[in-house]
Amino acid sequence: MLEKIKEIRAAMERELQEAASSEQLRELKVKYLGKKGSISEISKSMGKLQPEERPKAGQLVNDLRQALEQNLARRQQELADRALQAQLAKETVDVTLPGRPVKQGSRHPLTLVMDELKEIFLGMGYTIAEGPQVELDYYNFERMNLPADHPARDMQDSFYIDAKRLLRTHTSPVQARAMDKLCPQAPVKVISPGAVYRRDDDATHSPMFHQVEGLVVDEGISLADLKGTLLNFVRQMFGEEREIRLRPSFFPFTEPSVEVDISCMLCGGAGCRTCKDTGWIEILGAGMVHPNVLRMSGYDPERYTGFAFGVGVERIAMLKYGIDDMRVIFENDVRFLQQF
Ligand code: FA5
Ligand code: MG
Repeated sequence: MLEKIKEIRAAMERELQEAASSEQLRELKVKYLGKKGSISEISKSMGKLQPEERPKAGQLVNDLRQALEQNLARRQQELADRALQAQLAKETVDVTLPGRPVKQGSRHPLTLVMDELKEIFLGMGYTIAEGPQVELDYYNFERMNLPADHPARDMQDSFYIDAKRLLRTHTSPVQARAMDKLCPQAPVKVISPGAVYRRDDDATHSPMFHQVEGLVVDEGISLADLKGTLLNFVRQMFGEEREIRLRPSFFPFTEPSVEVDISCMLCGGAGCRTCKDTGWIEILGAGMVHPNVLRMSGYDPERYTGFAFGVGVERIAMLKYGIDDMRVIFENDVRFLQQF
């Protein structure tokens, strides 16, 4: 019996060492440990031994089983390692192959226009001023020369938070905030980009939209400065061949006030559907800062003058990219956004 165990062990170790695949290892496992395997057979024959021989023999059979199991696991690992090494030796990484493309997003058309607007004005020496979107009635209206009950407040239908606060209807309140901060250290030369809110909702009016306010206050600022600044801006934004036209208008916070049109970029001024056959497209409101606004902000209007303008950013984006409905700008349909 002991001889037999020794024989099995020797054979088993040799065969394990010779096994060259996990398939062969599996066969060995069946051969030795299976129901009719050699170890099982020898266990069964234990009954024929003398009782005093049994513990010793039992111990040897257990050792044999354990050795087999351990060696099987070890060989399995060795074979796996060898297979991996072989594969690594065969495979080389071609670093000149193009990588897999990463799916990239794109910047929102409003962001593009906003960035371009900022860049143009920063290039002209403006700095950026900011104000809150939940604004005091005081800054949004009163400081803009629109006292309570002034009928012109109706031009901008508002979302009120409470009796004193509202969602700002334009970026103009930042004019007052900037002057409060800078006066009396004129000059003031700021732009203020941001979201504004009105009770509007149609193809060319959104309840939330964006403006960029501009304000320059100094000694000797004239309407000619305003016109030159806007012409420079328009040509950078829409092309060197653009012209601008100032039309008389009304804003309570500027005097005189103007609406600014650009020559139509589609027809070049001849007249088409986009410009409603006028050759001109309105893009912003502007004017010379009203003496009352200057005075409320601490400036002596006899000495200081200024101009201000308010650009509708969505409108610029629509003109620049030929978007015919403002609402698609906010729907965030990827098919639309990917075009920019
Ligand atoms: C104003 O808001 C003035 N604060 C502009 C201004 C500033 C005048 C400084 C003088 C001096 P207005 O209400 O016209 O003006 O709006 C300015 C621009 O905002 C419009 O030309 C238009 O492009 C845009 N706009 C107005 N309402 C909407 C809306 N509901 N949706 C999208 N754009 C709008
Ligand atoms: Mg207007």
